[in-house]
Amino acid sequence: MARKETRTNPGSHISAQPRLHQRAREIQPYGTVNHALPLELEEPVRLQMTEQLNQLLADAMTLRDLYKKCHWQVAGPTFYQLHLLFDKHYDEQVELVDSIAERIQLLGGVSLAMAADVAETTQIERPPRGREEVPVQLSRLLDAHQIIIRTSRMLARRASELGDDGTNDLVVSEVLRRNELEMWFLSEHLVNAPLVTAQEPTTTVGAA
Ligand SMILES: [Fe+2]
Repeated sequence: MARKETRTNPGSHISAQPRLHQRAREIQPYGTVNHALPLELEEPVRLQMTEQLNQLLADAMTLRDLYKKCHWQVAGPTFYQLHLLFDKHYDEQVELVDSIAERIQLLGGVSLAMAADVAETTQIERPPRGREEVPVQLSRLLDAHQIIIRTSRMLARRASELGDDGTNDLVVSEVLRRNELEMWFLSEHLVNAPLVTAQEPTTTVGAA
């Protein structure tokens, strides 16, 4: 007796075999916004906000990675203190990056994610692969913060003008204020204050 053939649709074939190496068209191109949520924000507003947020995201991701580079490569008498401080700031930047990226997605946009795309977009100068001394590390980090602070202020102002209060709040309350605080912590390490011996006041010739 012939075995009964069961015909199944190849697309619905059930198998324990994992389907590997799959590729397909993108479901949303970069630089576009969809209409997922009724946010009461017009498409041109969301387009402009997501574009500017992606710039901020690329810079924040670069600063995040710069902190890890400094954390690993720092050298000298302040090694332990800076090693810990750089990693604390790294962790804080990780949180900011996530908040910015999810704001972009929430607005219907597409967040930058991969290092190569970030490298093409960031405004922060690329450091060398090798190790640099502490003052240079600190200066690079401060320069990066300055760029992010400048971009944040411009973005917050534009968000306010366009009625995107959520983006304004995120950028001011989280990104701007955290970057200002980290900048202060770094900059105090570049004050040339005596470490052990206080400097004697200089005596002026002819003084009474
Ligand atoms: Fe570590």
